[in-house]
Amino acid sequence: MRGILFRYGDLLPLTKATPRLSLCEGQTPLIPLTNLGSDLAVDLCVKFEGANPTGSFKDRGMVLAVAKAIEGGAKAVVCASTGNTSAAAAAYAARANLPCFVLLPSGKVARGKLAQALIYGARVISVRGNFDRALDLARKASEELGLAIVNSVNPYRLLGQQSAAWEICDELGEAPDRLVIPVGNAGNISAYWAGFNRYRELGRTRDLPQMIGVQAAGASPLVEGHPFDEPETVATAIRIGRPVNAEKAKEAVRESGGRFLAVSDEEILAAQRLLASREGIFAEPASCASLAGLLRLHREEGLPEGIRIVAVLTGNGLKDPDAALNQVPEMVEIDDRWESLREVLAR
Ligand code: F0G
Repeated sequence: MRGILFRYGDLLPLTKATPRLSLCEGQTPLIPLTNLGSDLAVDLCVKFEGANPTGSFKDRGMVLAVAKAIEGGAKAVVCASTGNTSAAAAAYAARANLPCFVLLPSGKVARGKLAQALIYGARVISVRGNFDRALDLARKASEELGLAIVNSVNPYRLLGQQSAAWEICDELGEAPDRLVIPVGNAGNISAYWAGFNRYRELGRTRDLPQMIGVQAAGASPLVEGHPFDEPETVATAIRIGRPVNAEKAKEAVRESGGRFLAVSDEEILAAQRLLASREGIFAEPASCASLAGLLRLHREEGLPEGIRIVAVLTGNGLKDPDAALNQVPEMVEIDDRWESLREVLAR
C-alpha cells in the first residue's frame, strides 16, 4: 500500500492500534520549471501538491489526524476551513466511516472545494463570518461535544505534513537552498521547517533551507505584525487574519534566516497565468503566492545565480475554476461549418 503512514511510518507516532489509513497520498511530483527557472537563472522546482488525492497538501496531515482520532475512540471529526482542510477531512472521514462536520466561511470557499466536502458526505455548515471565527466555533464544538478537531491545532496534522519536506530531501539528496511557501494559518511552513530539521538530525540532509513565507497583502498579519480583523484576498485559501501557528512560523523564518513577504492579488493572479501558460501547471491562487513572492524577490533584490529553490504549490488549480475563468479571454464560438472554422484559424 502507498501513503504517508506506510512510506514514513517509522518517523510517525504509530502504534499497533493506529489504523493504517491511506488514499495513497504523498509522493507528489517535484517538477522542474525549465522555462521560468532559466529566466531567473536559478534551479527552480515546484512541489506539486495538487497531485494528492483530494488535490491539496492537506491529505498528508489529515490521514494521520483521522487515524489517530479513530485510535483515540472519537465518534466524529470537526474542522473549520477555507476549503482544502474540509475536503481532506471529509474524504478521510468517509474512508474511515466517521461522521465529519465542517464549518466554512460563507460565500468565500472555492466551488471545487465545496463540491468535494458535500460529495464526500460531510455535514457542511456555512458560517456568516470569516475563517478565524469559524475556527473559534470548531474549537468550541470540540471542547463542548468531544468531537476530534482536525485543524492544524491538532499536532498530528503538522506531523504528517512534515512528510513533504522529507520527500523533497529524498528526491534531491539534500534540502534546497530556499523553500518558498504560501502562508495562511501558518501550519505548513512550520511543518516543513520541523521536517527539514528532523531529517538533519537523522543525517539525511546536511543543510537546511532558508524559509520564505508568502502571504496575500490583504491577509498578511505575519508581514505587518498585527492581526487582520477583516482579511480579504482572491486567494481565499489563505484569507486568514489570525494564524494559529504564527509563533512557530516566526521561529522557522528567524532560525532559517528567511523572511515573510506579502504579494498583491494582481501579482498572485499574474503568477497563476504565468505558471499555466509557460510551464503547463495549473495551481490555485493561494499556491501561486509562492511563485509571486519569488518573482518579487528576484525583481527587488535579485537571487544568487544557480541556487536551488523549491516553491510549494499547495493546491490544484481545478479547485477554483472561477478564479481562472475570471481572468482569461472569452472563447470563440462558431457554427458547425468548415468555412467558419477556417476563418477563425486564419486570424
Ligand atoms: N495553500 C492552500 C491551497 C491552502 O488551502 C492553505 C490553507 C494554505 C496554502 C496555507 O497553509 O494554513 O498551513 O499556512 N488552507 C487551510 C484550509 C486554512 O482550511 O484549507 P497554512
